[in-house]
Amino acid sequence: MTVSSRAQVGIIGAGPAGLLLSHLLALRGVHSVVVENRSRAYCEARQRAGLLEAGTVELLRAVGLGARMDAEGLEHGGIYLQFDGERHHLDFRDLTGGRWVTIYAQTEIVKDLIEARLAAGAQMEFEVSGTEVTELDSGQPVLGFTDSAGTRHEITCDAIAGCDGFHGICRDSMPPGLVTVAERGYPYAWLGILATVPPSTDELIYARHENGFALHSMRTPQVSRLYLQVPADEEIARWPDDRIWAELRRRLGPPGWELKEGPITEKAITPMRSFVASPMRYRRLFLAGDAAHIVPPTGAKGLNLAIADVTALAAALTSLLRDGQAERADAYSDRCLTRVWRATHFSWWMTSMLHVDPSADRFGAELALAQLRYVISSRAAATTLAENYTGYFPLTWLPQAEVMPRAQGPGEQGGQRRGHSGLGQ
Ligand code: FAD
Ligand code: DHB
Repeated sequence: MTVSSRAQVGIIGAGPAGLLLSHLLALRGVHSVVVENRSRAYCEARQRAGLLEAGTVELLRAVGLGARMDAEGLEHGGIYLQFDGERHHLDFRDLTGGRWVTIYAQTEIVKDLIEARLAAGAQMEFEVSGTEVTELDSGQPVLGFTDSAGTRHEITCDAIAGCDGFHGICRDSMPPGLVTVAERGYPYAWLGILATVPPSTDELIYARHENGFALHSMRTPQVSRLYLQVPADEEIARWPDDRIWAELRRRLGPPGWELKEGPITEKAITPMRSFVASPMRYRRLFLAGDAAHIVPPTGAKGLNLAIADVTALAAALTSLLRDGQAERADAYSDRCLTRVWRATHFSWWMTSMLHVDPSADRFGAELALAQLRYVISSRAAATTLAENYTGYFPLTWLPQAEVMPRAQGPGEQGGQRRGHSGLGQ
C-alpha cells in the first residue's frame, strides 16, 4: 500500500541545510516535510565542521537558534599560521574592522535544529529508504520514500529541496545533460581526531610542516579537535593513537610549546575534493549545500555555504509559493554560485598553500612558502585571508543592516572568548 499526501516543500536530508531550510520556511508560514535515511542519533553524532562565519552566527541568532550557541560557542578573533618552524598570528578584528568567527560544532547546530523543529510539531521522518523524486516536469514533483515501518509514501509537493549531501540522489535526478560539473581532486586526505583534553592553544593553528599539514582546532574548553594531512588512500588502521600524537607534536610544535594529549574518542579519514555542479535548480527541484558543491575543509567553508544556500532558498520558495513571485527562484542558482565560487577559490588557495603535495617539485613547494611569507608580511595579503575566512557579503534573510557581520564587543557572546595571548597558552 502507498500512502499519498501533499506538502508545500519536500526536503530530502536532515543535515544542517535541510533542517535549517525547514525552520526558515516555517517562520514564513510555509509547510515542509523532511525525510532522512539515517537515524536521529546518527545525524546528531556525525563529527564534521566546527567553524562558523560571523554572518552564519548572526543568521542563527536572528532566527531564534542562538541561545546555546551564544552560551557555549567560542568566539575567535584570529588564527595562527605556522611554517618554517615559526608561528605567526593574524588578527582578524584588526584586519577587517572587527570581524570574528565562532567555534560551535555542526553536531550542536543539528541538535538545536532537530529540537526546534520537533518542538514546533514539524513532520520529520528518519531512517527512510528508497527515496526518489519523480514528476519533475509536471510542476508538482513527487517525493517518494519508504518509512522505517516499511510503508511506502508519495508526497506531492509544490517544490522539492535536495539537501541530501554529496552522495544523495537529487543531483542525479536532474535531466541528463543539464548539470555541468567542475571539479578538482587533491593527492591527500585529512585524518581528524576528537580528544578529551583542553586545547593547547587560544586560537586555531594552521601549520605547514615538511611532513604535511596539521590543524589544531577545538570544540569546548575541555575537548580538542585536531587534523593531520595523510595520503589520499590512507588506512586508519595505520594510525594508532601514539603515532597520531607523535606526528601532531612534530608538525604543530615550535620549540618551547607543548601539545597536551588526552584520550582520543573519535578518529576518521576524510578525502578532499572541490566540486561544483551547476545549475542548482531544475524547475521545482532545488539543490542546496553539499548536494551541489564540496570544498576541501581547509578554509572551513562547507557548512557556511550550506547555510547561505538555504537562506537564499527559503526566501526564494516563500516568494514563489506564498506570493506567486518567481524572480528569486529564477535567480537562486546564479546567486548561490557566485558565493560558492568565491569560497571554492579560497578553499583551494588555503589548501594548496598549507599542504605538502607529494608530487610537487621544489618549484611548487617554494611557491607555497613564498605565499605564506607574503600573507604574514603584507597587510593587504593578510586582509585577503581574514576577509575570506570571516565570511562574505551578508545573508539576506533580514534587512542587510541586521545581518552584516559587525564588530562585537568583549563578552557580547556569552561563551568563552578566545584571544591572542602570545604563542598559544
Ligand atoms: P550533509 O551534512 O551531508 O547532510 C545531508 C543529509 O542527507 C545527511 O544527513 C544524509 O544522511 C542525508 N541523505 C543522503 N542521501 C539521502 C537520501 N537518499 N534520502 C534521505 N536522506 C539522505 N564546513 C564548515 O563550514 N566549517 C568547517 O569547519 C568544516 N569542517 C569540516 C571538517 C570535516 C572533517 C568535514 C568532513 C567537513 C567539514 N565541513 C566544514 C563541511 C560541512 O560539514 C558540510 O559542508 C556540511 O555538512 C553540509 O551540510 P549539508 O546539510 O549540505 O549536507
Ligand atoms: C575546523 C575544521 C576546519 O576545516 C577548519 O578550517 C577549522 C576548524 C573544525 O572542525 O574545528
